[in-house]
Amino acid sequence: MKILSFGSCNIDYVYSMPHIIKPGETLSSLSMAQYPGGKGFNQAIALGRAGAKAAMAGNIGAEGRFMLDLLREAKVDPSLVRVTAHPTGSAIIQVDSKGQNCIIVFGGANRTLSAQQIDEVMSTLSPGDMVLLQNEVNMLGEIVQSAKSRGLQIALNPSPIDDALKDIDLKMVDVLLINEVEGNALSGKEDAEDIIKVLQTRYQIPCIVLTLGGDGAVCATKQGLIKQAIFPVEAVDTTAAGDTFTGYFLKSFTQTPDDPQTAVLRAAAASALAVSKKGAAVSIPWSDEVDAFLESHKE
Ligand code: RIB
Repeated sequence: MKILSFGSCNIDYVYSMPHIIKPGETLSSLSMAQYPGGKGFNQAIALGRAGAKAAMAGNIGAEGRFMLDLLREAKVDPSLVRVTAHPTGSAIIQVDSKGQNCIIVFGGANRTLSAQQIDEVMSTLSPGDMVLLQNEVNMLGEIVQSAKSRGLQIALNPSPIDDALKDIDLKMVDVLLINEVEGNALSGKEDAEDIIKVLQTRYQIPCIVLTLGGDGAVCATKQGLIKQAIFPVEAVDTTAAGDTFTGYFLKSFTQTPDDPQTAVLRAAAASALAVSKKGAAVSIPWSDEVDAFLESHKE
């Protein structure tokens, strides 16, 4: 079974800051670095490094070509990523001394998908394959419709949350991966179990994964609710922690859907490794690093 991340590729400009700046404030950064990123790209890399049969589709500009090699290195098929005449998407990311971030995204080429391209991408997949989506490209509603009509499974990470999500029928989603902010926006609830209850009742989503920052994650499937604590590590940069979690969770869950516990455990371990390193995609660990981490954290 193939998992295709159909989404964004960004070039991230990451500024290390004494603190996240306030409105009207000007502050020198401690350092600046450029990394490959974008939620679609990061999640594709996480799938590939986790060992999934993974592919990516989306749009970049000529200056983003290096990302195709990075996908190949992570064992992700990049053949559905198009090089367009538009600039590659980009993000300005501030990271503070505690590893917390805030992100400004510029869509660029990510927002130039067409109906024809969606059709071409979808025609490469077979019923039962999975499409993994985020909310950094245009025509998200059309992609969801097209995937459903072809009998594909849909995993959705509705990030960043905005009005485009109103066009999505969440009843079509098989796996929903959200954080507390997204969960609150979609359900109107604050409490984790309330968020899950509302989303399950309203949309009958077979698998909901809710990440709770320092409080870990919960996963709701037909087997009930599973809780997973975080692995405490020193956070250097939390960028792409959620993307890492998503890729690792889906790799395990799609292979052994009756064992969501292993999927959240591996996802939590992979995220802990990702936050210990700077950068987005470059911080995502390989599967054997996750194995070694789990071995060294056995109770
Ligand atoms: O999830 C992290 C990603 O969000 C960054 O890599 C940035 O590009 C934005 O898309």
